[in-house]
Amino acid sequence: MTSRNGKVAVIGAGFYGSTTAQRLAEYDIFDEVVLTDIIEGRPEGLALDMNQSRPIEGFETKVTGQTTGPAGEGYEVLAGSGIVIITAGLPRKPGMSRMDLIETNAKIVRNVVENVVKYAPDAVLIVVSNPLDEMTALAAKVSGFPSGRVLGQAGMLDTARFSYFVAEKLGVPVGSVQTLTLGSHGDTMVPVPSACTVDSKPLYGLLDAAEVEQLVTRTRGGGGEIVGLLKTGSAYYAPSAAAARMARAVASDSGAVMPVCAWVDGQYGISGVYLGVEAEIGAGGVRRVVERELTPSELADLRTAAEAVRAKQSDVASL
Ligand code: APR
Repeated sequence: MTSRNGKVAVIGAGFYGSTTAQRLAEYDIFDEVVLTDIIEGRPEGLALDMNQSRPIEGFETKVTGQTTGPAGEGYEVLAGSGIVIITAGLPRKPGMSRMDLIETNAKIVRNVVENVVKYAPDAVLIVVSNPLDEMTALAAKVSGFPSGRVLGQAGMLDTARFSYFVAEKLGVPVGSVQTLTLGSHGDTMVPVPSACTVDSKPLYGLLDAAEVEQLVTRTRGGGGEIVGLLKTGSAYYAPSAAAARMARAVASDSGAVMPVCAWVDGQYGISGVYLGVEAEIGAGGVRRVVERELTPSELADLRTAAEAVRAKQSDVASL
């Protein structure tokens, strides 16, 4: 028999939030998955639907949906949550950058975090709302939580996109491909080709520099490519897979090393900023940032990303 424990909450029952809740429930490792939204009835309806999939899929994790009100009504449902994933906020429309969402989503994320802190003061916060690095920094500030207890999802997604593009290009299974992206979830994303391998062979031996650069460019624009096709929203299957895996690493205290948006304090010569780096994830969130050898140009790009993100993160504090 599977042992289940703990409660994980997902704030925002849009595409990203609902698919994340579904994945978490299907892991069948939690007692309860809570899903909330401000749209009356939406989280309750989705929860009912997911619960009705349990006899078919064979999982026992209970899904609870709860509409929340403007003054925080309904947030008591979060009591006892060990992990809270914040997906509330607008997605992009074609032609928009993630940064165009900053003012609107900062207000939403601030309001959400204030309420989360009241009812789940010990939770690990996983932020996915965009612009990601800024919303993670804002959540950390508003919550007052220790920096390791607040992290953002972006690196796993960007890395998965990069891996998929490499696998597709070479016609190999995705499982043979190892890639890495660091930096921001935006224009200053830093794919790290020096850390990329296919069946343990360096990527640079299999593709020439121009081909790698093409895949890197496509990775950097990976979210925008999907927004352009969907026209009415942004990606959620790969994003929710990444967020759910992060939550699982926290829930199982796994110590897995994942690229995430984490507080960087001295690593790579960078301090005092939330940035995409590799980190060891455990029950309390980020156990430690893991520093690896980078080429001089990758390191320079990472430092550039840190400064770009730092400037925006200080703006966001006043939003
Ligand atoms: N509290 C809870 N939910 C909220 C709030 C709030 N204060 N404000 C908005 N929401 C909800 C909306 O009602 C909507 O159901 O957030 C949900 C967002 O869902 P979608 O519009 O489907 O967007 P989604 O694709 O899920 O993306 C959510 O993740 O990838 C990022 O850029 C994306 O910031 C966006 C977020």
